[in-house]
Amino acid sequence: MTQLPGLLDTEAIRKDFPVLDRLVHDDKKLVYLDNAATSQKPRQVLDALSEYYERYNANVHRGVHVLAEEATALYEGARDKVASFINAPSRDEVIFTKNASESLNLVANMLGWADEPYRVDHETEIVITEMEHHSNIVPWQLLAQRTGAKLKWFGLTDDGRLDLSNIEEIITEKTKIVSFVLVSNILGTVNPVETIIRRAQEVGALVCIDASQAAPHMPLDVQALQADFVAFTGHKMCGPTGIGVLWGRQELLEDLPPFLGGGEMIETVSMHSSTYAPAPHKFEAGTPPIAQAVGLGAAIDYLQSIGMDKILAHEHALTEYAVRRLAEVPDLRIIGPTTAEDRGAAISFTLGDIHPHDVGQVLDEQGIAVRVGHHCARPVCLRYGIPATTRASFYLYSTPAEIDALVDGLEHVRNFFG
Ligand code: ALA
Repeated sequence: MTQLPGLLDTEAIRKDFPVLDRLVHDDKKLVYLDNAATSQKPRQVLDALSEYYERYNANVHRGVHVLAEEATALYEGARDKVASFINAPSRDEVIFTKNASESLNLVANMLGWADEPYRVDHETEIVITEMEHHSNIVPWQLLAQRTGAKLKWFGLTDDGRLDLSNIEEIITEKTKIVSFVLVSNILGTVNPVETIIRRAQEVGALVCIDASQAAPHMPLDVQALQADFVAFTGHKMCGPTGIGVLWGRQELLEDLPPFLGGGEMIETVSMHSSTYAPAPHKFEAGTPPIAQAVGLGAAIDYLQSIGMDKILAHEHALTEYAVRRLAEVPDLRIIGPTTAEDRGAAISFTLGDIHPHDVGQVLDEQGIAVRVGHHCARPVCLRYGIPATTRASFYLYSTPAEIDALVDGLEHVRNFFG
């Protein structure tokens, strides 16, 4: 068995993930390399979810009965866990949403309805990048269309990094918000946050970071990042689907208007007008994803019991190994950084002129799960003149043997297509 420095004890870890024992297509061992799409869930999270429903299920912040109080304590306890996980200065800065897309849409809408000095209008500019997931493009396009603001973006270099050579022309005195991804879901690139934030701060622009592919894989410290908003999702970090997070600086959350109206986000309501509860409740209209938040809390406990530094080191070792092994496959072209430096554990590639959907199907027949397509980042495919990619992505339970299986599988794909 290949041993690499920095690897976690995957034999022990994999015992926590029941699905990893599955066979697919009758007798094929599952090789799950689609972690950037969603992670698998450990027993500890599955147990927390069923225990919640079996013992505590009630609506939160509404009842005076025991279950309501216990459910509220669990839900708010999950908020404490998230705050500590990202080193937020205050638990009130953690807003629960349904996913990262909703978190990013929330920021765009807060700014769209805001008064000065945050207001986005026809005299202002919004800055994103060409490597964003659609969830960090479309909300800003919608906002630009609605307000007349100009949407600008950083382009990409040939090796899959942000082209910041014109940073002073892209981020200007007119820029209201710069929103960009910390780790690209398609290229794997880890972006130079400090350089972008420094320039944004020079011109007084707000900064929003999409940390969906970062929060599961590395320590995330919102105070060190110095951004104004950070969005991520629970299901990529061992938590359930249906729970996302938006962290925002407290003074901004106090000043900015809500987006969704409804129960529990108010202070008072009359038939003429309403006043709002303080953040984070101002931004959590309606019954929130209670069990999902509890599940996310259990996922955070699980990840922290292993250690985010160790998870990062594990994935870095795997990525180095994967990049090396994939280089041995004839006609394989990595789309994105070709070394393990400054990249995360999602690796996209093309294989000669074999369509990625065909690659994915033949891999699947061997039990190997990857994602194929444009990965909700179509502008990246357009930039590199390709219709789609095949993407393998690793997590804390991934092993070098699975990378070997991928490389063997790709050899099989090449033989299959002649
Ligand atoms: N954003 C997820 C991915 O990259 C779904 O696959």
